[in-house]
Amino acid sequence: MNLQNKTILITGAGSGIGLAIAKALAGNGNKLILTGRNKEKLQAAAASLKDATPVVSDATSEQDIDQLVATVQKDFGSLDILVNNAGLVFGYMLSANANAYAKARAEMETNYLAPIRLTEKFLPLLEKSGQAAIVNISSLQAFLSVPVISTYAASKAALHSYTIGLRLTLQGKSPHIGVFEIMPPFVDTDFSRGVPVAKMSAAAVADDVLRALQTDQYEIHSGIAETMYQQYLASPEAATLVFNGIKK
Ligand SMILES: NC(=O)c1ccc[n+]([C@@H]2O[C@H](COP(=O)([O-])OP(=O)(O)OC[C@H]3O[C@@H](n4cnc5c(N)ncnc54)[C@H](OP(=O)(O)O)[C@@H]3O)[C@@H](O)[C@H]2O)c1
Repeated sequence: MNLQNKTILITGAGSGIGLAIAKALAGNGNKLILTGRNKEKLQAAAASLKDATPVVSDATSEQDIDQLVATVQKDFGSLDILVNNAGLVFGYMLSANANAYAKARAEMETNYLAPIRLTEKFLPLLEKSGQAAIVNISSLQAFLSVPVISTYAASKAALHSYTIGLRLTLQGKSPHIGVFEIMPPFVDTDFSRGVPVAKMSAAAVADDVLRALQTDQYEIHSGIAETMYQQYLASPEAATLVFNGIKK
């Protein structure tokens, strides 16, 4: 799709990958709507970009999303691209005292259920666009789990599965709406701070988002994630061991 004169909403755009995507898409007549919970972060992000509007909105709150849809309808009258980027992770080991249910539930609400609600509620506006896209930022962890973030990985696996179903549904019903999924490895943002592994930059992930949209590549495994994905296709069991640094 061409990336000019589009109205683009990015969740979790005050920092990290969301902000990098906003920077990559700013200009060319595009109007950016940046959402997140932290007002100061959003205002600073919007002030640094051309034609960007900050809207404080919690992706897990139905009331906030209804208000957001009404604001977009009233102030912009259209939406061409929805980027479901906001994400939450708890790093912890599973144990009897881990409180895994509450953590998994919060991760599911942010990483899986929020994109479903946002997509459903913005679909009527996306349907009216001449050329539209839904971009879900998932993770290589959808395929390859690690004990310390296993409930997060499960939420991204759920998002991956949903994304495939949504893509196939819209390809039949509304072929002008492309459904994209970007699956990064570890990325250098607040999210992965303190994790001692090699990380790619948020700007490089944003470049992949642009490449996906411009070339209709619906699923991208960013950076080293492509190599790991190929290993996973060859042998899920062996790839899981390699990914977790386990020697057989
Ligand atoms: N960093 C990595 O290693 C990595 C790897 C693969 C995939 N990802 C995915 O990339 C996406 C972006 O993460 P990031 O690395 O850029 O981390 P980040 O810098 O921490 O950004 C996450 C953003 O999500 C927003 N957010 C969190 N909960 C929200 C909610 N309920 N409603 C609205 N906004 C919310 C946060 O803003 P507020 O706090 O202001 O709400 C923040 O701006 C996530 O989906 C993550 O799972 C990250």
